[in-house]
Amino acid sequence: MDKAIINAKLLQNDTFVTRNIYIREGRIEKISSRRIAAEKRIDIRGKIVLPGLIDEHVHFRMPGFPHKEDWKTGSYAAAAGGVTTVLDMPNTNPPTTSQDSLLLKRECAKKSLIDYGFHFGATNDNIKEIAGARNVAGIKIHMGSTTGSLLTDDPKVIEKAMLAATIPVLVHAEDEALMKLNAEKYKSHHEPFIHNLVRSNEVCARASKLAIHLAGKTTRLHIAHVSTKEELDLLKRAPSNVTAETCPHYLFLNKNDVKRLGNFGKMNPSLKSSIDQAALWQGLKGGRITAIATDHAPHTIEEKQQDYWKAPSGVPGVQTMLPLLLDAVNKRKITLRNLVSLTSKNPARLFRIKGKGMVSPGSDADLVIVDMKRVHSIKDEEQYSKCAWTPYDGMKVKGWPVMTLARGNIIFDGEIIEGHTGSEVTYERSI
Ligand code: DOR
Ligand code: ZN
Repeated sequence: MDKAIINAKLLQNDTFVTRNIYIREGRIEKISSRRIAAEKRIDIRGKIVLPGLIDEHVHFRMPGFPHKEDWKTGSYAAAAGGVTTVLDMPNTNPPTTSQDSLLLKRECAKKSLIDYGFHFGATNDNIKEIAGARNVAGIKIHMGSTTGSLLTDDPKVIEKAMLAATIPVLVHAEDEALMKLNAEKYKSHHEPFIHNLVRSNEVCARASKLAIHLAGKTTRLHIAHVSTKEELDLLKRAPSNVTAETCPHYLFLNKNDVKRLGNFGKMNPSLKSSIDQAALWQGLKGGRITAIATDHAPHTIEEKQQDYWKAPSGVPGVQTMLPLLLDAVNKRKITLRNLVSLTSKNPARLFRIKGKGMVSPGSDADLVIVDMKRVHSIKDEEQYSKCAWTPYDGMKVKGWPVMTLARGNIIFDGEIIEGHTGSEVTYERSI
């Protein structure tokens, strides 16, 4: 055996068992209460081992925006946050909307410390590429405009793309026309709180409703970054081919925080009310939200300090998702089992990722070791993201990731351990 993780607390259903995890050639070979010879032993003395998180929604910005993030800094932030796989979004420059641009992105991702996959962008005229897309996680349709140039807001085109796709379709569900009307209405205002009025609940609900309608009962539709109670109500009535994701910022922040955060609390969709926030927590428990993903979208401090209308939307999140959620487990807002389903098991299933999302023999040894008792404050200066800020700066949490392993190699142990290189994930065929 290459490596043994001794005295690991593992979650089995809702109880813990103490076991030793044996790793060979990057995979979990055996989980046993017996001692077996291994070249290297790590005794974690009863700390909890979870599957490494799979963040199905990140913007690592390459190619195109190296001043905001790159695969080295983004993957370091991920590793420090217990995330061992990311799926990157197509709104780069060039956007990932053809096989050629996908090759360019693959080159950039070779710098990654963790494993990765890509979502492919829909445009108004790449139906053939969408139909042929196999080596990617999903097809992203931007029903409303956001950072970058991608926009596909014509229902006929959206429907065609949905019909052509043989893999899951993710939608950025914000209604472009209503957003434009609202922007016109509030154009003389410059306070960041108007973001919630421009990108209102109705903006999200209209687009999500249309997406669910167009998907019918066949398209595997995944609604990205759900932020409103209205969308949850739609999801409750939607058929089972429709799944949804929400993000830490909609769970841990709301529109009142924008007074304090200014444009550092500006993201698309916008932060909503505490009523929406409560509904999302309910949605996690009720099973209608299938995944939590960060929508890690770094922008520099200088970019964020511009006038409201100029400042780009997006917040970093890949390093802070797990600490925030562990704190929520300690506060009994969700169970640890729920956390694992929402951040690793379900994303692996939803996007057909092979060998990930579980601590079990045969799976990749992508693991995060957490200390549920450690109290620590999230700090700007501890962020590995190139943007070097977090909307959670100063927040004290209980529960912290202390070690991360990628394919059996330690990549984080209180600090980043270099030397390992991430690989592109592979996918099961069917959806
Ligand atoms: O806030 C956001 N930022 N929402 C998006 O849809 C895109 C993202 C970005 O890429 O900056
Ligand atoms: Zn996004």
